[in-house]
Amino acid sequence: MKAVRREPASVTPVWIMRQAGRYLPEYMDVRRRVTFLELCTTPELACEVTVTAQQVLNVDAAILFADLLPMLQPMGMELEYVQGEGPVIHNPLREPADADRLQPLESTEPLHYVFDAVRLIRRALPTDIPLLGFAGAPFTLASYCIEGGGSGRHVATRSFMNSDPGAWETLMRCLSDAVIIYLREQIRSGCQAVQLFDSWAGCLSPSDYRRCVLPWTKRVIDAVCRDAPVISFLTGNPALLPAQRDAGGQVIGIDWRMDLDDAWKIIGPDRAVQGNLDPAALYTDLPVLKQLVRRVLDQAGGRPGHIFNLGHGVMPDMNPDHVKAVVDCVHDAGT
Ligand code: CP3
Repeated sequence: MKAVRREPASVTPVWIMRQAGRYLPEYMDVRRRVTFLELCTTPELACEVTVTAQQVLNVDAAILFADLLPMLQPMGMELEYVQGEGPVIHNPLREPADADRLQPLESTEPLHYVFDAVRLIRRALPTDIPLLGFAGAPFTLASYCIEGGGSGRHVATRSFMNSDPGAWETLMRCLSDAVIIYLREQIRSGCQAVQLFDSWAGCLSPSDYRRCVLPWTKRVIDAVCRDAPVISFLTGNPALLPAQRDAGGQVIGIDWRMDLDDAWKIIGPDRAVQGNLDPAALYTDLPVLKQLVRRVLDQAGGRPGHIFNLGHGVMPDMNPDHVKAVVDCVHDAGT
């Protein structure tokens, strides 16, 4: 939390995106007993995997175990996680004329399991370990609603966006209003900060992002950042960094496609920065991995306001010992 405020700290804090995931044997022990959605909707289990990942890795923050897409269920989207394929939405908004089918999130009550998990996790964690909440940014949620699942190039989303600005506005307004009430309730239930994931916005040009996406992301961040700090994460396109910065957020999360020191120059000295070890570094031998970790730390140069993380999530086939080595290496380096 000191790093979020750009105050000096004794070590660079570190957490890992998808730290509670399939690479971790402790996660798989729980996951084999239930489906992924059951895990997300059972607060005791969500609490167990969140807290276990924090303990096993000795990271400086826990992130709520949940997912981007279950919040779309009470908005009328039929969601399923298909083994080996990832999330599928069975009734996607294929045409701009479908935009009206997305229902406003009138109440957070249908998502009570998320807030119940937050309360359990907050009680189970040590008091000095912050709990991060999260949500998808409006564009990334819209892309799932339109594409019906993961997509390479998001062609349907990009053509929807440009062919019917009115329908796009309807969709983005509905999603940003929902994200605002969802994140506020996570904060009210006990999260110390929240991360907004714009995982697919990198498919856009800066001008399209500024015109069609930035105002909605900014609307979410402006509404939420008064209640708790916001980490704004976007991946896939360094050309979007100035626009990402302009959308706000106390912390800017970056991927590995830019050197951290160059990114920080663009972001400016008035924001904290999170990142940005290339996740592929985890496949290298430990001496190389440690060198790559230190390279990121050198680029941060001990400046207050650096939160160490990967440039994107840890993958299921990564070695948990290497993930632990990243955390230890960051802690051993001091600042
Ligand atoms: O970081 C954490 O440890 C907290 C939990 C978390 C998950 N997903 C758990 C998860 C978080 C923060 C997310 C965010 C998320 N979900 C994102 C944004 C992050 C990013 O990577 O950009 C996205 C795009 C999603 C949507 C999603 N959920 C996909 C594409 C998939 C399938 C991935 C795959 O390889 O199968 C999921 C499933 C998912 N979310 C898993 C986990 C641990 C694996 C599900 C399983 O156990 O079978």
